[in-house]
This record gives sequence, structure tokens and C-alpha cells, in this order.
Amino acid sequence: MTREEAYELVRGRLGMTPTLHHCLATEACMRALADRFQEDVATWGLAGLVHDLDLDECQHDMARHALVAAEVLRKKGVNENIVHAVLGHNNKVERTSLMDKALWVVDPTTGFITAAALIRPSKSTADLTLKSIKKRMKDKRFAAAVDRDQIRACESDIGLQLDDFLSICLQAMNAIRQDIGLG
Ligand SMILES: [Fe+2]
Repeated sequence: MTREEAYELVRGRLGMTPTLHHCLATEACMRALADRFQEDVATWGLAGLVHDLDLDECQHDMARHALVAAEVLRKKGVNENIVHAVLGHNNKVERTSLMDKALWVVDPTTGFITAAALIRPSKSTADLTLKSIKKRMKDKRFAAAVDRDQIRACESDIGLQLDDFLSICLQAMNAIRQDIGLG
């Protein structure tokens, strides 16, 4: 599956929703991490882009989330490593590869960075700093639904220090801020 085909698929299932922005943000972070780890940038990017393609339709039955996506992706003949990462991000399979684990830690991080950007007067990542993100992480009432431990798992799961990991994700998201509603 090409990147363009993946985008059309995801856009078709999600429409222009915040979930689409989240998928694009996740794609950008996954590409940046793949680059950092000298892994396959295109494959990691695709995993990020498609990971939530069924989220909106599974909103009322989250037990099905990722299972529906896996079925759709397998029918399209998508690389099984990508399907595995998608299943792993909603605990449907054990996360074994570095890509599985990266998707797990990136998923809440994009949401958190988005929330941290949107409360700024600029509503943008352009003037969002690492320091500001970390301060928000300590405020338990801020974006309370986002699991801080899952973000911090970057250290145990993919071997990146929190500062390093957040900087990579912030930079990746900022580079596409106009496409994800943060410009
Ligand atoms: Fe997600």
C-alpha cells in the first residue's frame, strides 16, 4: 500500500475529523522515530497513519477498535508487521517489535502535544516548548484522559529519554502543523 492509498483509505473512513489529524500527527512522529532508529521510515509512517482508521466507527464499541482496522488492512494486503502494530496499540496482540512499541508510546503523546498547543493563545505548536509540555504533564487535571505513564514508557519500551522523545514528536508535529489544525 502506498502512502497515498493509505491516506485515501483513512480519510474515506474518518472524514475530516480530529481523528484524521491525530492519524497524521502519529504518522509524522512514527516517521521521525524510524529515522532516529534507522528503521524503515515508510513502513513506520504507514503504521501511524492507518492505526486509528476504525476509531470513529468503533466509538461505541471500543472492544472492536483495531480488530476492524486489521480486517480492512489485511483485505488490502497490507504488510503484516503494520497490522500487528495496529492490533498492539489497542492491546489485541502483545507488542513485540520496536515499531509496535513506538506506536504505543506515540499514540497518547500526539494527543497530549495537541492539547498543550491548543490552550496557547497561538493554538499552535510553533511556540510550544518542551518545558511547557513537561509542565502540563505534571498537572493532573490537564488533559486528564491522557495516560502519562504510557508516554513515559518511551524510556522502558523504546529506550529514549523522555526529553528526547518529546522533542522528536514536537518537532515532527510542528513540521506539519498546518495539516493537523495547529498552524
Ligand atoms: Fe491513536
